[in-house]
Amino acid sequence: MSLQFPNTPEFTGLYQPSRVETSIIDLEVEGMIPEAIKGTFYQVAPDPHYPPMLGNDIFFNGDGIVSAFHFENGNVSLKRRYVETDRLKAQRREHRSLNGIYRNAYTNDPLAADNNTTANTTVIKHNGVLLAMKEDALPWAMDLGTLETLGEWDFHGQITSATFTAHPKVDPDTGALLCFAYEAKGEATPDIAYFEISDEGKLIREIWLQAPYAAMIHDFAVTPHYVVFPIIPLTADLERMKSGGQHFQWQPDLPQLFGILPRNGSAADVRWFYGPANGFQGHTLNAYEKGNKIFVDMPVTSGNVFYFFPQKDGSVPPPESLKAALMRWTFDLDSGDAHVIPKILTRSPFPCEFPRCDERYSGKPYRYGFTLAYDPQLPFNSATLGAPPFQFFNQLARIDVTTGDCEMWYPGDAQCFQEPIFIPRHGKAPEGDGWVVCVMNDLRTRSSDLVILDTAHWTNGPIARIIIPFRLRMSLHGNWSGD
Ligand SMILES: [Fe+2]
Repeated sequence: MSLQFPNTPEFTGLYQPSRVETSIIDLEVEGMIPEAIKGTFYQVAPDPHYPPMLGNDIFFNGDGIVSAFHFENGNVSLKRRYVETDRLKAQRREHRSLNGIYRNAYTNDPLAADNNTTANTTVIKHNGVLLAMKEDALPWAMDLGTLETLGEWDFHGQITSATFTAHPKVDPDTGALLCFAYEAKGEATPDIAYFEISDEGKLIREIWLQAPYAAMIHDFAVTPHYVVFPIIPLTADLERMKSGGQHFQWQPDLPQLFGILPRNGSAADVRWFYGPANGFQGHTLNAYEKGNKIFVDMPVTSGNVFYFFPQKDGSVPPPESLKAALMRWTFDLDSGDAHVIPKILTRSPFPCEFPRCDERYSGKPYRYGFTLAYDPQLPFNSATLGAPPFQFFNQLARIDVTTGDCEMWYPGDAQCFQEPIFIPRHGKAPEGDGWVVCVMNDLRTRSSDLVILDTAHWTNGPIARIIIPFRLRMSLHGNWSGD
């Protein structure tokens, strides 16, 4: 029987499946890894185990595969395993994909598992387990050391929502996991739930509310007193799903909507704010509050970035027509005006995504951000590589959000990055002082390295390059867990 992935942009180049499960002690290292870096960098990629049942598929629909880079005494070891979800186990039993359209179980093969999640969007350590999360279902737990899959995780029966975020925050003062669910009462429901789960795993807050309509809420923000839900104009519709359509459809007339919930409040206390229509709220860099004003910083794009979820007439904007920049939204709870316009945070705008902060400052006034960035003016080896792929970022940026100043590192004409994470130099290091670690793909040599940049010497490039002896597919998110 033939087993071959399609020759499409979704399955070639940066998106060619890797499918490698491995355990490698002491990876090769060029340069020196500081011995002060002690802990594990966990990240997860959608990496389809089988070719798509329908002939092609979107990046976000791949089976979650977790990489754990463990740093100790200047050495790095790698473990990498699939999250053994019900969905993956059913596929392995049948030796083929059983899953149809993204987040549309109505299009699955009858032999597919009931639980359609791939657990492929982020991984984070919480209360002794590693949680692999995707926003369409509850998390899946794995063993922190072996990456053995332990099973679906409802926090010992405390979480009753149908779904759970893949963008939890950690309260920097208490270690509590701050999380939410959308479509929380089932497919295409407008219900949202907010949860706080203590570092010891106890549910300490649960608030339910409803959005005006069911739509994607991919990331969110939490400050000491408020929760912000950015509702992206990608609506969900059960009838469309039942008739074999997409879970999400772009609605160019809808605003970039934000729901603001007091952490000690209830559904009755939610305030709604309306941003410009036909815009896409990206990942949260950070947020903070000052009096009755809440500030949320994120990349914002002037249209639908997700070409695979078109609007009703099937159209999507050409990627080169979209404008993107790191923006700040200001929500003034004292103002009677519910309309908000975001402001560009950097001196000059540039497309960026996958932003991360020094998470000791999560939800608090802060200064530094680290993000992937794209400069189309920089050389790109198009003679060999053709057009840059989806989510192609050729720079790593260190941003001072108080001044708008940016430092950039550009590695060359065939390289691109996956999401960075920040590691403080030590527990009491000043904000943003430490190292940034991320995977860098070389599209020409089809290889992947883990690079470490010192935040004090950003533009010098990596102080160490850890050679991964196989190619990693583009990933989504991850987190650092210090020893
Ligand atoms: Fe995300």
